[in-house]
Amino acid sequence: MTAKPVNYSRTTLTELMIPAYANFGGKIHGGTLLSLMDKVAYACAAKHARQYCVTVLVDGVNFRQPVEVGELVSLLASVNYVGRTSLVVGIKVIAENVKLGTVKHTNTSYFTMVAKDDNDQPTEVPPLLLETPADVRRFLEAMKRKELRAAFSENFDNARTHILLDENIDKLTRERCQLTDELRDLL
Ligand SMILES: CC(C)(COP(=O)(O)OP(=O)(O)OC[C@H]1O[C@@H](n2cnc3c(N)ncnc32)[C@H](O)[C@@H]1OP(=O)(O)O)[C@@H](O)C(=O)NCCC(=O)NCCS
Repeated sequence: MTAKPVNYSRTTLTELMIPAYANFGGKIHGGTLLSLMDKVAYACAAKHARQYCVTVLVDGVNFRQPVEVGELVSLLASVNYVGRTSLVVGIKVIAENVKLGTVKHTNTSYFTMVAKDDNDQPTEVPPLLLETPADVRRFLEAMKRKELRAAFSENFDNARTHILLDENIDKLTRERCQLTDELRDLL
């Protein structure tokens, strides 16, 4: 398969934040932004793979600043990494106040997508042609994220099997939770 450059599938989605997207506090729903991110991730991944793609995993959703009604949100997506059938799309989300001309960076997230064939089976995607130092940095960062995630999953799975309720219950006294009397008797 011929490698495709990052620019081949780079995609930007821009949408005006209308009142229907707002929550009761008047800010834009996180779910609205997630849905837009999923859309742009799909477009970018499908362009690279030239196949139907599905979302498998989302990393780094951390909304640093609220988005307001009336702001113009742009989602800048590019393929950061490809495996055999999976690819990671990095998405930078910015919100622009059109009147003031100010721009804020609300979050950068990473969507792992898998390409599927007509039988709904994972199918190979083209390699990624890295053309700039930034392309290389993003590819290496995605590899590191994958490695750390695998280590975390393994550690957490091990730790979880060792969390015994009766031995750890005292840790809850410093937390903002309460146990019912019935539960206390049970433990
Ligand atoms: C993604 C999916 C195809 C993986 O199926 P599978 O039988 O595990 O297939 P494979 O083991 O061949 O994995 C395929 C690729 O997905 C990757 N993958 C699977 N699970 C993953 C996970 N939790 N996180 C990151 N990557 C994952 C594998 O590493 C592999 O990548 P590679 O080929 O680049 O090495 C399957 O879990 C699926 O269809 N999930 C539902 C996805 C979906 O419908 N999303 C929409 C939201 S409902």
